[in-house]
This record gives sequence, structure tokens and C-alpha cells, in this order.
Amino acid sequence: MLLGTQRINAQGHLEVGGCDTVALARRFGTPLYVMDEALLRANCRAYRRAFAERYSDNEVLYAGKAFLCTAMCALLHQEGIGLDVASAGELRTALAAGFPPERVFVHGNFKSRPELEAALAARVRRIIVDSEYELEELAAVAREGGRVADILLRVTPGIDPHTHRLIRTGQEDTKFGIAIQCGQAARVIARALEMPSVRVRGIHFHVGSQLLDLEAHQAAIRIGVDLLARLRADLGFEASELNIGGGLGIRYLPSHEPPSISSYADRVVGTLDAALARHGLPRPRLLQEPGRSIVGEAGLTLYTVGPVKEIPGVRTHVAVDGGLSDNPRPALYEARYEVIIANKAAHPADRVVTVSGKHCETDTLFADVSVAAGIAPGDVLAVQSTGAYNYSMASNYNRFAHPAVVLVNDGQADVIVERQTVDDLVRQDVVPDRLRIQ
Ligand code: LLP
Repeated sequence: MLLGTQRINAQGHLEVGGCDTVALARRFGTPLYVMDEALLRANCRAYRRAFAERYSDNEVLYAGKAFLCTAMCALLHQEGIGLDVASAGELRTALAAGFPPERVFVHGNFKSRPELEAALAARVRRIIVDSEYELEELAAVAREGGRVADILLRVTPGIDPHTHRLIRTGQEDTKFGIAIQCGQAARVIARALEMPSVRVRGIHFHVGSQLLDLEAHQAAIRIGVDLLARLRADLGFEASELNIGGGLGIRYLPSHEPPSISSYADRVVGTLDAALARHGLPRPRLLQEPGRSIVGEAGLTLYTVGPVKEIPGVRTHVAVDGGLSDNPRPALYEARYEVIIANKAAHPADRVVTVSGKHCETDTLFADVSVAAGIAPGDVLAVQSTGAYNYSMASNYNRFAHPAVVLVNDGQADVIVERQTVDDLVRQDVVPDRLRIQ
């Protein structure tokens, strides 16, 4: 499976963005995250085009949690994409990049008072309120600052999408949002409409992530529009915005067949228009927040292969110089990935091995994957589709420093996140006087 600008070059090496990945590993060290700029941009454009053609009053935001750094913010801005931030850190990153706050939407199921204050002070476009508690807090913060907060209410449609249980969020039993089914959502919205320091613009939902079929999106849209109709009938409130979250899946394995962005747009807009027509509602502004489907397939992780241990009749264990700290997804979600020996990319992948990291832990990264038979220490292992939720979920377990991120395009490679160093970690340590080693 080759993605984006990937190809196998004359040396038989894997190439991406016109750069030989073996040379990238040598130049920047491993583990290394590599992002394919052309594919990132193509995905942004595909979203913009697909929705612009079908629904003129729409805006595409990118969910920063999938992968965020200042260069990513700058690229999104060039592509005309807005930003969903889910923490003070993500907001700070956007502002540091000079990203226009009026294109920033602030999420989170527990925004602290300072976070609400920071969002208001930055004059972000919308704050997506996740609970009644937060609504009261925000209304107070806005009132005290003499401001009016423009909000969306996050609601939970009560549907169960087909994806890993830890990345489902649309079901009734979730920590996110306010339940529609039991009437809570309508009640909290009615309350918000009474608040002079809050202006309700509409509703938001996000049903889950890595969705390979569109039924959950369609069901959520129908339920969301039913709620809008009820709000109009019962409260005389006409929402001007509907934010449908993210969730479109990507190819981790050749067997994964996610819908294309344009067929996704077809289904979303078709379902939405039909639901609106059923209730005689006008089109609200349509907002969405794809994360994984913009960055996921554009990312590749490079590792150096260490010991290859064959346990006869049992299994061959291959160690790489990263692991749980740069990719927790196999451990968290039993996620599976496609791997390629970058310096033997033209060899047939006919040997099954299990790749693990180098943490003090059974940190199996890729169980029973097919690789080139000649796999040996010193090889460069490339892992596909690691652009989303890898760098952004990296940890410092075992005091591993975070890998660098390199953006490649047309034969050029630019570091967009410097490699963290162990010195960075040690620098933050503090030894009280009474413990100092003499
Ligand atoms: N909007 C909201 C409010 C979200 O909570 C999320 C993801 C998105 C948008 C973007 O969803 P996407 O298009 O990326 O599916 N760490 C997990 C994924 C957690 C997703 C959380 N929310 C993983 O590695 O699979």
C-alpha cells in the first residue's frame, strides 16, 4: 500500500514527498515522524471542494487534537481551513502561529475558568459548551468581562457507531455533551437562550472516530435536525449553525476501504437536506471538524530495526528504537498498521514477524506483520498512516524524548517540530536541597 506521494525509487527505497526515507532517517535520526505536505494539502482541498460544490454555506475546521504544531496551523490557514482546539495548549499553539482567532472553535468536556477566560480574551469564534455546569461558568465569565460569548451546545444523539469502544462518543452513556433523548439538551438550550451574556448559534455533535461506514453520521444528522425542529417549535429558536464533528476513517491496512471525501460529502449533504426538508427548516451553516482524515494517511513513522530474535517454531520478534511512547494506539485500541522495510521496499513482503518497541513493557507495536524476508538490524522500518494521534499522543515513558517531525515536499525536508532531548526533560526536574547528592 503506497499513499500520497509515496513511491519506490531507483535504489529500491521508499520515497515520500520526493525524499528518500532511508536518507531522511540518516539525516534526522529515528524515530522520526514524516508528513507528506502534498497529501495534507490535497486532503484539505478535497474537503473544501466537496462541500463547496454541494452546500455553499459551510466551513471546514480541522480537529487539532489529531496533530498540531505551529507549521500545521500555518498550512491550514493557507488552505482556508478553520481550527477546532480542545485545550488551552492547542489554543496557545494556534495563537502562537498567528492563526486568526475568528477561525478558532474551542472544545473540551471540562474547560477550566482560566481556559474559558483565555478563549473569550482571544476572541475565538465559538465556544462549544459541553455541560450545564460549563454554561453557567461561561455565562458568568462573559458577564464579568462585559462580553457576550457565542456558543454551540454539544449534544449527544444517542447512537452507537461501529468503531473501537474507546473512540465512540455519540452514544447516550458518554462523558461528552448533553443527552438529547432524555430532554436534557432542550432544557439546557432553553436555559442558555435566557442568558444575556451568551448567544446560542446552534448545536454540535461528534459521534466517533475512524468510522468506515457513514450510517452513524447519517443517523446523528437526522437526530440533530429533529432537535432543531423541536427547538423551533417549542422555543421559537432557529439555529443558524450545525456542527457535525469529524470521524471519517482512513486506510491503516489495504483492506480498509473508507468512503472518499466526496462520497462522504454526498451522504452528509443528502441526509441533511432531506431532514431539513422534512421539517421545513432552512439550511443552517454547516460546520465540520475532520482530524484523522486530513492528516492520518499523510504521516509515516521511521524507526531503526534492532535485534531480530527468532524463537524457532514460535515467532520472530523484531525490536525498533521507539514504541509505546511515540505510538500508543496499538496498546490503547489494538490498532493495526502496515509496515514497509524502507531500504528493501522493492523486496516481496513474505516473512511474518512481530515488531515491538524498546520500552520496559511488552509494547507490541505490530503483531504478525509481513515484511521483507531479509529484515536485519540497521534496516529502516516505515509505518504507514501514523499522521493522526501519534505525535499528538506521544509520551515520555522511560524518559524517551519525543521524535522530531519533518515535512516533506518536492524533494525538500523541513523540520517542523524539533526532536525533544533528554536534557529538555532533565531541565524541568527540581531536586530539593535536602535531597541533593553531595
Ligand atoms: N471533533 C470532536 C469534538 C472530536 O472529539 C474529535 C475527535 C474530532 C472532531 C476529530 O475526529 P476525527 O476526524 O479525527 O475522527 N485518540 C483516538 C481518537 C480520539 C478522537 C477524539 N475526538 C485515536 O487515536 O484513534
